[in-house]
Amino acid sequence: MSKITIVDLMKKKSMGQKITMLTAYDFPFAKIVDESGIDIILVGDSVGMVVQGLDNTLPVTMDEMIYHTKIVSRGVKNAMVVGDLPFMSYQTSIEEGVKNAGRFLKEAGASAVKIEGAADFSDLIKSLIKSDIPVMAHIGLTPQAIHKMGGFKVQGKTQDAAKRLIEEARIAEDAGAFSIVLEAVPMHVAETITNELSIPTIGIGAGPHCDGQVLVLHDLLGLYERFLPKFAKRYVNLKEEALKAISLYKVEVEQGIFPSEEHSFK
Ligand code: KIV
Repeated sequence: MSKITIVDLMKKKSMGQKITMLTAYDFPFAKIVDESGIDIILVGDSVGMVVQGLDNTLPVTMDEMIYHTKIVSRGVKNAMVVGDLPFMSYQTSIEEGVKNAGRFLKEAGASAVKIEGAADFSDLIKSLIKSDIPVMAHIGLTPQAIHKMGGFKVQGKTQDAAKRLIEEARIAEDAGAFSIVLEAVPMHVAETITNELSIPTIGIGAGPHCDGQVLVLHDLLGLYERFLPKFAKRYVNLKEEALKAISLYKVEVEQGIFPSEEHSFK
């Protein structure tokens, strides 16, 4: 099986097949996600919260994103790997944005990049496409803008705000984005955007009508306890399983049960 491409994603949209996307931040989990057949692995700047233990994504650096994308790419055979441009890696100038986006493809094995925003970055999106760097846009709740938004809040709730979101989505498509993440927007707004765009929409907290869905892996696996957004679903509690296994190891060492002969050399 060859790697998923943007052409495959367009085909899925046209055939009404759902696109699946998950985050991953390291080799072992990237390998598991890839083996499950997930279409897109996003190396999200959510790494700051779920791996680095930060309160938000703002301090995550470009070098950290390159490191995580590199080790994810090593574990992936089939999924499309998308690198997430962190805060202040593309906001300062188009030149800086293109240079940093290029690093994901040149150094880290990604096939595309994601940026938060659309209308404010339409020129950047165009420049990235000119440089042969596929771009996924991201609108609605954009966590890099938490201070401007006043927190992690649902976007597009009023008629005017919904209109602006729909317009932003159109701008992203016109600028050349190959898909767009819709985060924390009312489901009827996401449905309208999905119907109006020819590129796939990937929802997170945007209801069931998007062309695809994305979740943060640590939310799905029960590895992030601080906060579970209303839109995230915990499919398993791996923290509990890990705690059980580690506690058993501790007891077995303390009681002389481990290592047994089986784990020793003669
Ligand atoms: O950083 C991230 O994981 C994301 C997804 C939630 C879309 O941007």
